[in-house]
Amino acid sequence: MDKSFLVNEIKRLKTERDACILAHNYQVPEVQDIADIVGDSFALSRAAAKINKKIIVFCGVRFMGESAKILSPDKKVLIPSKYAGCPLSDSITAKQLQAMKSKYPDAAVVCYVNSSAEVKAISDICCTSSNAVKVVESLKEDEVLFVPDENLAGYVAEKVNGKHIIPWPGHCITHARITVEDLVKTSEEHPEAEVLVHPEVSEEIRESSDFVGSTSQIIDHVHKSSNTEFIIGTEIGVLHKMKKDNPDKRFYLMSPRLVCENMKMTSLESVYRCLLNMQYEISVPEYIRKKAENSLEKMLCIE
Ligand code: 13P
Repeated sequence: MDKSFLVNEIKRLKTERDACILAHNYQVPEVQDIADIVGDSFALSRAAAKINKKIIVFCGVRFMGESAKILSPDKKVLIPSKYAGCPLSDSITAKQLQAMKSKYPDAAVVCYVNSSAEVKAISDICCTSSNAVKVVESLKEDEVLFVPDENLAGYVAEKVNGKHIIPWPGHCITHARITVEDLVKTSEEHPEAEVLVHPEVSEEIRESSDFVGSTSQIIDHVHKSSNTEFIIGTEIGVLHKMKKDNPDKRFYLMSPRLVCENMKMTSLESVYRCLLNMQYEISVPEYIRKKAENSLEKMLCIE
């Protein structure tokens, strides 16, 4: 379908349906460009909690749409691709978390927002990659179960003193594709470049980088930095805003394999069909939603 037809139809349907389009920083450029708000998981959760439109179209993956529904239960939340999931989120079930909790009955439970509504419902508090350190610091318990990302857990353990962090062995398959050879090669090719990575990368990559942050924190860092060259260790989607906002700076993706297939399932055409056919609606059973909301609201109070 013709791009200008899709863009015009999306704008028309958005007004007609009273919808707001949220897009994660990992979405393809043309989807970011038609969104009302583009951001990281934290910014989008905060936005979803405050939206005053009837419909939220969430361009991201399923757990993000679920978080929007949990925080805005009176809104209809749609995701353009019903298959856009997150293997990291799927790496732990509520049953597995329950078993872990029984082994550590005194521990606080922190779940990364990349988790199902059921896992959020039996956690004490949620976190995103931008606030995980602050969330863990806010807890009174010394022992913390941190699920499901072991790399983010390791990063938090490094930054927070006096807490015993017990990770779940899950990770993001996209960030796990970066090898040390990729880092060495890009650094040799661009010796002046600053190395910026997401905390979902492995410890060995994180330790050799100059800056660790969420997608929006990386984008902000680039904008404020006096450097002109950057090696980027996160999903390719972040390059769009960086290039748009900083035409004089140069960006090198640490690996060409930094493409999340799930995030790339959403296209302009699927956003158009989403608004046209009002598909695919996210629903969360109320008894789970209420408990999951508690974990998300606690996180939102921290910043
Ligand atoms: P942020 O949105 O917190 O940067 O994390 C990215 C991510 O994990 C998407 O799955």
